[in-house]
Amino acid sequence: MNKQTVKDIDVRGQRVLVRCDFNVPLDGETITDDTRIVAALPTIRFLIDNGARVILASHFGRPKGEVNAKYSLDPVAKRLSELLGKPVEKAADSIGPAVQERVSLLADGDVLLLENVRFHKGEEKNDPELAKAFASLADVFVNDAFGTAHRAHASTAGIADYLPAVAGFLMEKEIDIMGRALEDPNRPFTAIIGGAKVSDKITVLENLLAKVDQLIIGGGMANTFLKAMGYNLGNSLVEEDKLPLAKELLDRAEKEGVMIFLPEDLVAASAFKADAETKVVDAETEGVPEGWMALDIGPKSMKTFGLVIARSNTVIWNGPMGVFEMEAFAKGTNSVAESVAKCQGTTIVGGGDSVAAVEKAGLAEKMTHVSTGGGASLEFLEGKALPGVVALKDK
Ligand code: 3PG
Repeated sequence: MNKQTVKDIDVRGQRVLVRCDFNVPLDGETITDDTRIVAALPTIRFLIDNGARVILASHFGRPKGEVNAKYSLDPVAKRLSELLGKPVEKAADSIGPAVQERVSLLADGDVLLLENVRFHKGEEKNDPELAKAFASLADVFVNDAFGTAHRAHASTAGIADYLPAVAGFLMEKEIDIMGRALEDPNRPFTAIIGGAKVSDKITVLENLLAKVDQLIIGGGMANTFLKAMGYNLGNSLVEEDKLPLAKELLDRAEKEGVMIFLPEDLVAASAFKADAETKVVDAETEGVPEGWMALDIGPKSMKTFGLVIARSNTVIWNGPMGVFEMEAFAKGTNSVAESVAKCQGTTIVGGGDSVAAVEKAGLAEKMTHVSTGGGASLEFLEGKALPGVVALKDK
């Protein structure tokens, strides 16, 4: 990464405002997955150990610029305190005189968590006044919120206009691992792209086609490609208006020598229901019967995809292979998760759903990298510049 990090600056005795992505799933008061908090610990610990006065900021949910107790960062302060083994106080707001006063009392190595930055309307509008108010709390800005790096908000981008701005370790790791995979991969390089719709992933597919050797397409979006090849999809989700685009992408892949792998067989269901009647159909010779819909990839596809993944030296996976929220249609996604986990090369999983599937299967530890970004990792794979990264100081 060509950006400065916390290692490039002197933080001792400095007030360091660290933007984290503590947007974690919550059930009542309980954090059900603290991955994003754990991922921020290396930066926070480094700053504590080096005598910085640490001020943490994050958004949580989408409170739309209103104060709402439901979106308070209180549960995060509690969990952080447990993980760090030291008190983490949470301020009542993220700007203002009371917060200034609290910050002025911080000793070297102390940690203070600000309240949800999205309680202020200016956050998502990247309001310069709010950015200035955040900046007035600190001497240095550290962005470690990879998950929010695709947002040009006051606490992710605007603030960097008023303070020296560098990356945290999580930001550095995400950009380095994914950047290297895209720019200088060990080949063969395979991307596995799934999810419901082609329209959500057009730019990703276009960007990846110029980089990968093999492209596996699964999930609902594969239906549109199969239909474009003339196969019968019954009542499956097919984006009719994207058929020409699917054809164009298939042609481009052939011209560029990229091998495309689509499902050879599908799990067809009689209805979009967990207990629907199901049968495996061959995509080419049988197709999905009228009134039925494809909700997962079949066993032959799992096997082929597994072989392709096994012979890859770099794998990037984004998007499930079927309606994995329903156990009956989770086999394809689980089988891809297992194949990626077994692959000896560099393996990267990004995107909320595929990460959730990998974690549910207990396979996260087996991957080279599981991204903390949903939308951010998708935009990175699209080849877009992320505002939260652009704003940081170059090396
Ligand atoms: C995420 O969960 O993807 C990030 O925290 C960004 O959240 P947002 O989509 O509400 O901006």
